[in-house]
Amino acid sequence: QAQNERESLYIALGFARDFFVKNLQSPEGKSIGLSYFKERGFTPAIIEKFDLGYALDGWDNLLKEAKSAGFQEEILLKSGLILQKEGDASRVYDRFRGRVIFPIHNIGGKPIGFGARILTKDKNQPKYINSPETAVYHKSDVLYGMYQAKKAIRDKDNCYLVEGYTDVVSLHLSGIENVVASSGTSLTDGQIKLIKRFTDQVTVLYDGDSAGIKASLRGIDLLLEGGLNVKAVVFPDGEDPDSYSRKVGTQAFQDYLQENSRDFIGFKIGLFQVEFAKNPIRKAEVIREVIQSIGKIPDPIIRSVYAKEASTLLEVEEDVIHTELNKSLIKTQ
Ligand code: GTP
Ligand code: MN
Ligand code: MN
Ligand code: MN
Ligand code: MN
Repeated sequence: QAQNERESLYIALGFARDFFVKNLQSPEGKSIGLSYFKERGFTPAIIEKFDLGYALDGWDNLLKEAKSAGFQEEILLKSGLILQKEGDASRVYDRFRGRVIFPIHNIGGKPIGFGARILTKDKNQPKYINSPETAVYHKSDVLYGMYQAKKAIRDKDNCYLVEGYTDVVSLHLSGIENVVASSGTSLTDGQIKLIKRFTDQVTVLYDGDSAGIKASLRGIDLLLEGGLNVKAVVFPDGEDPDSYSRKVGTQAFQDYLQENSRDFIGFKIGLFQVEFAKNPIRKAEVIREVIQSIGKIPDPIIRSVYAKEASTLLEVEEDVIHTELNKSLIKTQ
C-alpha cells in the first residue's frame, strides 16, 4: 500500500516536472522564465541537465493539466504540488505559481520535490518556495544536485558543499560537477551519511556573509563529527559561489578555490586573523574554538594529527592542546 502510494507520487512528480519543463518553452515561460535564466548565464544545455522549468502564473494550471491526465486530487495533495485553501479544504490550488523551477531529484534521478524562485523583487513574498516533506521527499536525507554530482564526487574524491540551488548550477557551468547544496538549512546526519557513500572529503563553500560564515562553522563541526575530512573556502564579502564565479570567470574561480581552500584550523584562524596578533584574549578564544572542533573528530589518531598542526599554527605547546582536548572530551562523554 505504502509502496503503491510512493509510486503514484513519483509519477505525479514526474508529470509536474515535465509540465514545468514544457512551460519554460511556452510564450510566457520564454519571456519570463527563460529570459531570467539567460540573464543569470544559464545555457540551454545546463537548463536541460538540471531539468529547470517554469510554473505558469495562475492558480490552477498544473491542477487542471494533471486532473485531465487522470491524476486524483489526493495524490496531488500528498505530492505537495497543490494546497488546500485555508478555511475551505474543498478548494485547492497550485503551490508553485509564476516562478522558475529547480526540480530536486533523488540519487536515482527521479524528481521528489521542487524549489521555486520568485522573479520579482517583491519583499512580501519568500524568495524560494520549496516542496513540503512527503512520503518520497525526506528533506533531511536529500542534498540538491547529488544525482548530477555523484559520479564526479567519487572520481574527484571530494564534495563541494554550497548553500543554494543556483550555486550548484553555476559550479557546473564553471566545469565543477562534484557539488551539492544543503539548500540553506543546517546539515543533518542523513545528509552527511549520503556524502560518505561517495567520498570522505568535503569542501564547504558557503556564502561570504555573516550567515554563511556562521553556517560554515556549524557545518564544519557536524562534518568533523561525522568522520569527514573538511576544508572550507571564504568568499569576499557579499559574494556566493554563483555570483563570484560569474564575476571573475571560470579559470579565476577555479584558481580561487585552489588557493583559498583551508582545513578547519586554517579557516578558523583566518576568520579571526585581524585581531589575532594584537589581542591575546582573542587569540585564546581562537585556540579554544579550534580545540573544540578537534574534539569533534571521532578518530583519535586524526585528532592527534590536528592537535600537532594546531600547536604549530597557533604557537601553543602541544601539551596545552592535549590537556584542553582531554577536558572537552571528558565533558562530552
Ligand atoms: P539567488 O538569490 O537566486 O542567487 O539564490 P541563493 O541560493 O544565493 O539564495 P540564498 O543565499 O539567499 O539562500 C540559499 C538557499 O537557501 C537557497 O538556494 C534556498 O535553498 C534557501 N532559501 C533562500 N531563501 C529562502 C526562502 O525564502 N524560503 C526557503 N524555504 N528557502 C530559502
Ligand atoms: Mn522525513
Ligand atoms: Mn545567503
Ligand atoms: Mn546565496
Ligand atoms: Mn546567489
